[in-house]
Amino acid sequence: MSEYPTRYAHITGWGTAVPEKVLTNCELATMVDTSDEWIVSHTGIKERHVVAPEESSATLAADAAIKALDVANLDPSELDLIIVTSASPEHLFPATACLVQDRIGATKAGAFDLLAACSGFIYAMNMGAQYIRSGAAKNVLIVGTETLTRFVDWQDRNTCILFGDGAGAFVLQESETPGGVLSGIMRSDGSGGDLLCLPAGGSKMPATAETVSTGQHFIHMNGREVFRFASRVIAQATREAIAAAGLKLDDIKLIVPHQANLRIIESAVRHLEISLDRCVVNLDRYGNTSTASIPLAVCEAVQDGRIQPGDRLVLVGFGGGLTWGASVVEWSGPFPTKHKVRPLKYRVLARLRSWLLRGARHVEGLIWGRENQ
Ligand code: UT7
Repeated sequence: MSEYPTRYAHITGWGTAVPEKVLTNCELATMVDTSDEWIVSHTGIKERHVVAPEESSATLAADAAIKALDVANLDPSELDLIIVTSASPEHLFPATACLVQDRIGATKAGAFDLLAACSGFIYAMNMGAQYIRSGAAKNVLIVGTETLTRFVDWQDRNTCILFGDGAGAFVLQESETPGGVLSGIMRSDGSGGDLLCLPAGGSKMPATAETVSTGQHFIHMNGREVFRFASRVIAQATREAIAAAGLKLDDIKLIVPHQANLRIIESAVRHLEISLDRCVVNLDRYGNTSTASIPLAVCEAVQDGRIQPGDRLVLVGFGGGLTWGASVVEWSGPFPTKHKVRPLKYRVLARLRSWLLRGARHVEGLIWGRENQ
C-alpha cells in the first residue's frame, strides 16, 4: 500500500453573484432588429442580467467568492490558491484573481487567471482538484466570472442577444474520504479559434483608433459553426468523463451543460439518449454567461433541492478556443466544523488591509524617492 494518503477534492462551498439589472428580449428588440419570438425559438433565452457601471468581473467574482466561503465555513485566510476564469477579465494584466484575492482578504493564497472561454470553469475545477490531489494545496477557490455584455456590439443581432453577466464560485477542499471531483477531461482545437473571438486589444492587434472604429474590440462569432461543434462535443465529452470516473450514464443523476442555447442542449440530450429533465437548464433567465454558466446552474439546482449530497453529476462545457471539457463530481456539501466563520467580516478587514498596504507603499515611496520604486 502507498505510504501517501489518497486525497480527494470535495466541493464544500458554492455561491453566485448576478447584476440586478435585467434586459428582456422585448427591450432588446427596441435596440436591434430582432424579436422575442425569434430569440426564444432559436436559443431559449428570455432575459439576461447586465452589469451596472460600478460593477466589473472582479466585483462579481468577489461577491460570489464570499458566498461560497460562507457556505464552506472557511476563512479567506485559509485559502491556498485562487483560480479565476474569465473571457472578460478586468484587465489583460494584472490577473483578476489577484484583485479578488485583495478584495476578499485571502492573505496566504496564490492567485492566477485561466482562460478557456466558456469551458473555463471545467478547466479551473480540474486544475484546482489536481492541486489538492497532489498535496500542493488544501483549500482552493475557483471562480468563473463574466461581463461579456461589455464586449458585445449592441447592433450585432447575431451576438448581442446571447450573452449575459454573472459569476459563480466553488470552494474545493481536501479530504481522504472518497468523493468530490471524480474525473476531468479537457480538450482543445485551435484551428477553430477564429470562430469565436475578440480580435483586437491583444498583442496581435493592439488597440488603435481604427480597431475601435471598425468594431474589432467586440465579440465576433460564426454562430452556425459554433453550434455544430457544440452539438457534437457535449455528448462526446460527457461519455468520456463518465468512463474516466469508472461509471455509467445511469449512475449520473444530473448533467449540467454550459448554458449557451437550448437547442444545443436538446441536441446533446438526443445524442445521449436521455430525457431533457436530466439536464439543468436556466439559460432562459441568464442567457449565455460563458464560464459562469455552469456554477450558476449548479448553485440554482442546489437551492432548488435538485442536487443532494451523494448525487453524481456531469458538468460539461464548450466554447471559444475551441475548447471543451467535462467532469464527473460527487456532490459533497460543507465539511462539519465546530465554529461559524464570517467571511463577510473578512471583506471589511480586507478593504482595510488593502488600504494600509497601499498607504505603506506610498510612504515607502516618499522615504526612498519615487525614482527608486
Ligand atoms: O458559449 C459558446 C458561444 N456561442 C454559442 O454557443 C453560439 C452557438 N450558435 C447559436 O446559438 C446559433 O447559431 C445562433 C443563436 C447564434 C443563431 O441561430 P441560427 O439558428 O444558427 O441562425 P442563423 O445564424 O442560421 O440565421 C438564420 C436567420 C438569418 O437570416 P436569413 O439569412 O436566413 O435571412 C439571420 O440573419 O436568422 C437571422 N438572424 C436573426 N433574426 C432575428 C440571426 N440572428 C437574429 C436575431 N433576430 N437575433
